[in-house]
Amino acid sequence: MSQLQNSHRPRVLTGLRSNSNLTIANYLGAILPMSRLAKKYGQTHDFFMFVPDLHSFTTQINHDELYQNTIQNVKIYVAAGAIDLSSSNVTIYRQSFVSQHAELAWILDCFTHMGELGRMTQYKDKSSGQQNESVTVGLFNYPVLMAADILLYNAQYVPLGDDQKQHLEITRDIGLRINERFKDVFANGVFTTVPEPWKQQLEFSGLSKALRIRSLRNPTKKMSKSDTDESGVILLSDTPKIAAKKVMSATTDSLGQIKFDRVNQPGVANLLEILALLQDRPQEAINCEWEGKTSYGDLKKAVANEIGSFLSKFQNGLEQIDEQKLMQKLQHGEERAREIAGAQLLRVQQAVGLRQR
Ligand code: TRP
Repeated sequence: MSQLQNSHRPRVLTGLRSNSNLTIANYLGAILPMSRLAKKYGQTHDFFMFVPDLHSFTTQINHDELYQNTIQNVKIYVAAGAIDLSSSNVTIYRQSFVSQHAELAWILDCFTHMGELGRMTQYKDKSSGQQNESVTVGLFNYPVLMAADILLYNAQYVPLGDDQKQHLEITRDIGLRINERFKDVFANGVFTTVPEPWKQQLEFSGLSKALRIRSLRNPTKKMSKSDTDESGVILLSDTPKIAAKKVMSATTDSLGQIKFDRVNQPGVANLLEILALLQDRPQEAINCEWEGKTSYGDLKKAVANEIGSFLSKFQNGLEQIDEQKLMQKLQHGEERAREIAGAQLLRVQQAVGLRQR
C-alpha cells in the first residue's frame, strides 16, 4: 500500500499506556477491543499505535526502568494480539522518538487556558491531597501533550476508556480553536481533521458505553493495579493457577440464581461480562446460556478456564517475540511518524508565524 493511499484512509490512533503491571482489565477493556478494531478496519483505516513514554513520568516512576519498560509494553501489546509484527497496517512508535510531539505541545500550550486544564478531573484526582510543591507542571499539562499526540496525525478516531473523555474533548477544543484563529492562513484548517466527538468515537468502537471490568473482590469498584486488595485483580503475569484461585474466590451474592443484573448482582454480572469478552460472543448469548442456573461455582470454573487458557497462550507468545524484528518495526514506525508529524508541525509553525508561509 503506497503512502498516498494510506494518507487517504481515515486514521485511527491509540496511545498504549505504559504500565509495569498490566491487568486482565487492561487487556479486556483496551487491548482486546483495539486488536478487534485493527482486524475489522485494517484494510480501510490507517492504524497508529504508540507508547506515550513522555506521559509516563507525570507522576513518580522508577527512571532506571523506563526505557526497558517501554519496550516491554510494546511486547505485551504484540503478545496480546493488538499489534501484528508482520503486518504493514499498523504503525508503532515511541512518543519520545518523534520530537514533534513535545514541540507541538509547547505551541498548543500557548492556546490553552489555565482554567481548562484546572477543570480536568484526572488532574484534580491525581493532585488532590498533595502539596503544590509535589504536583508537577507535567501532570497539569498532560492533556496538552495528549492533544499534540492526536492533532499531529490528523487522527479521526481515538479509541479510549471513559476516564479519557475530557481529554478527547479538550483536544477537539484546542484543535478547533487553532483552526478558527488561523483560518486566513489555511482555509481547510491548520489541522485538516480533528477527532470525532465522543459519541461517534464509541460508535466506531462498537460500544454503546465504554467498558469497565470490576474487581473480583469488590465488584462495585473497577479492577485496577493500584487496588490494595490484590486478590480481586488478575495480572497478565499471573500463572493460570493463581488466576483460577482468584476467580474461584470472587465475591458474588446470596441470591442463589445467575442473572445479568449490574445493580443487584454486580459480581455475577462482572463474571458474565468477562466470559463474553474472552469468548468473543455477544453478552446476550452468554446471558441466555447462564441465566436461571444456580451454581455460581460452575460459572466461576468456566471463567477460570477461559482466563487460564488466555494467560498461557499470551505468556507463551510473550516469550517467543523476536526482539530484533520488534526493534526494526519500531524504528520503521518512528521514521514514518516523524515524516507525517514533521509535515503537520510545519503547517502549525507557518500558521503561528515561526516559518515562512
Ligand atoms: N491518556 C491515555 C491513557 O491514559 C494515554 C494517551 C496519551 C493517549 N496520549 C494519547 C491515548 C493519545 C490516545 C491518544 O490511556
